[in-house]
Amino acid sequence: MIVVTGATGNIGRPLTQALAKAGEQVTAVSRHAAPMPDGVRHVTADLAEPASLAPALEGAKALFLLLSGDLHAPEARPADLIDLAAASGISRVVLLSSQGVSTRPLGPTRVAMRALEDALRESGLGWAVLRPGGFASNALAWAESVRTQGMVAAPFGDAGVPVIDPADIAEVAAACLLDDRHNGGVYELTGPQVITPRQQAEVIATALGSPVRFHELTRAEAKSMMTRFVPSELADDTLDIISAPNPAELRISPDVERVLGRAPRPFHDWVARNVAAFR
Ligand SMILES: NC(=O)c1ccc[n+]([C@@H]2O[C@H](COP(=O)([O-])OP(=O)(O)OC[C@H]3O[C@@H](n4cnc5c(N)ncnc54)[C@H](OP(=O)(O)O)[C@@H]3O)[C@@H](O)[C@H]2O)c1
Repeated sequence: MIVVTGATGNIGRPLTQALAKAGEQVTAVSRHAAPMPDGVRHVTADLAEPASLAPALEGAKALFLLLSGDLHAPEARPADLIDLAAASGISRVVLLSSQGVSTRPLGPTRVAMRALEDALRESGLGWAVLRPGGFASNALAWAESVRTQGMVAAPFGDAGVPVIDPADIAEVAAACLLDDRHNGGVYELTGPQVITPRQQAEVIATALGSPVRFHELTRAEAKSMMTRFVPSELADDTLDIISAPNPAELRISPDVERVLGRAPRPFHDWVARNVAAFR
C-alpha cells in the first residue's frame, strides 16, 4: 500500500489516480475529505501533528511526502514525519522538495528543506527527492480575476521561468514510488520552456478566445497576497526567484524526460486541461 500526502492538491490528485490505475492500493491523506478514485481509501490527518498520520501508515510500503503551507514555517518539525515513517515499517519515501534547495541554498525555507532531505538520506529508508521549479498551477491564483475582470495581476511580468505541470511531477513521483531503480534519485523538474507571466496571460486569453489584460503588481502587493497562504519566509524565497531567476533557474532540466521517456508538458497543455477555472 502506498500513502500519498497532499492527496487532494495539484500533484496529489493526479498521483493518487495514477497509482490506483497502476493497480496499487492507495491511502490518500489530507486534512479535509474529498471525492477519491474508486478503491482509494482516504484518511484525514494533519501533518503538523505527525502522530495523526500514524493510522494512515499502518501496513504501508511507500510514502509520498508533500509539505504544505505552515509546514514550511521555521517552527515546523517535518523531520518527525520521516522518523514516524521509519518506525511504521515504510521502506521508501519520495519527498517533494524544491529546486531552490540547489539554486538558492541560503533562503530560510531552502535551508529547512535541505535539512529534511538530509534527514531522509540518513534515515536508512529508500528514498527519492523531487526538486521542482515554479508550478503551472500557480496560474490558478489568477482564475478569479480572469473570470470577473478579464485580468491577470502578477509581479515581474517579464521575468519567466520554465514552469512545470504538476501532472508531470505526479508521473515522476509515481515512477519513483513504483520502481526501485529511482532509489537515491534527485530529480530537478522543470517544464520545456521559459515563459513569463505576461506570456502566460496570453496563453490563457487564447484558450478562452477573449482578451486578458496584464496588471503588474509590486513585490509588496504580491507578498501580501502570498502570505494569505504561505509563511512569510516562503513568500520571500519564492519572490527572490521569480523577480530575478538565475541561470540555474532558467535551465530546462532533462530529468522529466529521463524518468518518463517523453518531454515535459508545455504551459498551454496545462491551460487546455484547466481552462474551465478561468471561464
Ligand atoms: N507552487 C510552486 O511553484 C512550488 C514550487 C516548488 C515546490 N512547491 C511545493 O509544492 C507543494 C504544494 O504542492 P501542491 O501544489 O500539489 O499543493 P496544493 O495543491 O496546495 O495542495 C495541498 C495539499 O496538501 C494538503 N494539506 C495542506 N496542509 C496540510 C496539513 N497540515 N496536513 C495534511 N495535509 C495538508 C491539502 O489538503 P487539506 O487542505 O484538505 O489538508 C492538499 O491536499 C508545497 O510543498 C510547495 O512548497 C511548490
